[in-house]
Amino acid sequence: MLGDFTYENPCRLHFGPNALDELSGELAKFGPKVLLTYGGGSIKRSGLYQKVIAALEAAGKTVVEVPGVMSNPTADKLREGAKVARENDVDLILAVGGGSTIDYAKGVSVSAWTEGDPWEHLYLNMEQPTGKIIPVGDILTMSGTGSEMNAGSVITNHEEGLKIGHVFGSDVMPRFAIVNPELTFTVPDYQMRAGIFDAFNHIQEQYFSGTDDNTSDYIAEGLMRSLVHASRIAVKDPTNYEARSNISWVCTWALNTLIACGKSTDWEVHMLGQAIGAVTDATHGMTLSTVALPYYRLVMPYGVKKFARFATSVFDVPADGKTDEQLAEAGLAAMSDWMDQIGVVRHASELGLTKENIPAAVRATIILDGGYHKLTTEEVEKIFRQSL
Ligand code: NZQ
Ligand code: ZN
Repeated sequence: MLGDFTYENPCRLHFGPNALDELSGELAKFGPKVLLTYGGGSIKRSGLYQKVIAALEAAGKTVVEVPGVMSNPTADKLREGAKVARENDVDLILAVGGGSTIDYAKGVSVSAWTEGDPWEHLYLNMEQPTGKIIPVGDILTMSGTGSEMNAGSVITNHEEGLKIGHVFGSDVMPRFAIVNPELTFTVPDYQMRAGIFDAFNHIQEQYFSGTDDNTSDYIAEGLMRSLVHASRIAVKDPTNYEARSNISWVCTWALNTLIACGKSTDWEVHMLGQAIGAVTDATHGMTLSTVALPYYRLVMPYGVKKFARFATSVFDVPADGKTDEQLAEAGLAAMSDWMDQIGVVRHASELGLTKENIPAAVRATIILDGGYHKLTTEEVEKIFRQSL
C-alpha cells in the first residue's frame, strides 16, 4: 500500500566511462566562481584533478580550492569551508571524491550563508538552512554512500563525541553528478568492501520496515540481488568493469530516495554505526558490518515475515517446509556468509570499540522508531557488547 509521498530528485546524473565529457556542459549552467573541494590527494595521484582543472579553465571559471577533506569530515573543517565559500561568494561547489567530500560540499553549501555556528544549527539541532543554498555538483570516485544523488550530509564532532547526519531538502541535492565506475578501480580494497556493505545496508534500512505489499520492497530486492552477485566478482577481480559498474549503479539507487517511497524506514543500524564512528573515527561501512547482524538478530522476531521474505528473495534460501522463523534465521546466516565472502570487518574491537568506550557509544546513539522494534538503551548496549 502506498500512501502520500512526494518524489523529487533534481540531480542529472551522467554515468559511464565517458561521463566526464559532460562536465563542460554542466559547468556552463553556473556562474563564474567555483569552489573545488576534494580529499587527501587520491585525485591528484589518479590524474583526475588535472582533468577537472583543465575543464574549469576551459569554462573560464575562477577557482578557489578547499582540499584535505578527511574521511568522516569534521565540524572544524566544515567551518573552514563555509568561510571560504562565503568570502568568495561562490556560484557552485564542485566536489571530487567519495561520500566524505560530497557530504562536505553539501554541508558547506548550507552553512556558508546560514548565520551562527553551522554544526550547532544544522547538525546538532537539525535546523533547516536560513541563508542561500549554494548549488553543488559532484564527480564521484568511490561508490557506497549514495551521496552523489541525495541530500544527506554527515559531519563528525570529535570534541562532542558525536557523528550526525542531516538529510536536507531536495534543494540541497547535487544539481549534477558524474559517475564513471572506472574511477573506482583505484579505491583501496578495504574501502571498496566497506562501500559495498554500506550500500547493502542502506537498502536493508529501508526494506526492513512495514508489513504491507509495497513496490519499493521489490525494487530493493532486485538491488540487493545485483549487489550480492556483483560484489562476489569484484572482490576477486576489482577491475571487472561489469561488476564495478553494477555496484556503482546499485550504490546510487540504494540511497537516492526512490526505495524509501511509501516506507517508514528504519536506519537504526546506521545510528549504531555512526555512534561507533563518533568514538573511533572508523570507516563508515565497517562500523555497520559489525553491528548489523547483532541488531537484525535482535529485531527479527518482531518482523519475522519480512526476514523470511529476505531469505528467499535475496539469498535464494529454499523454503522446503521451513517455518518463517527458520527461514528468517537461514537468511541472516546467508547474509553472514556473504559478508565473509566479501571480507568486511565483523568485530568492532578491530575498529577501536572497547568495553571502556561502549558507554560513550551508547550516549552517542540516536534511537529511532521506524523499524520493527524500538531499541531500549539496554539493548543498544547489548548490541555493542555482541559486536566486539
Ligand atoms: O581522500 P582521498 O585521498 O580522496 O581518499 C579517499 C579516502 O581515503 C579514498 N578514495 C576515494 N576514491 C578513491 C580513493 N582512493 C583511491 N582512488 C579513488 N578513486 O577512499 C577513502 C574513503 O573515502 P570517503 O569519501 O571517506 O568514503 P565514503 O564514500 O565511504 O564516505 C564516507 C562518509 O560518508 C558518510 C559516512 O558517514 C562518512 O562520513 N555517509 C554519507 C551518506 C549520505 N550522504 O547519504 C550516507 C552514508 O550512510 C554515510 O553515513
Ligand atoms: Zn551508510
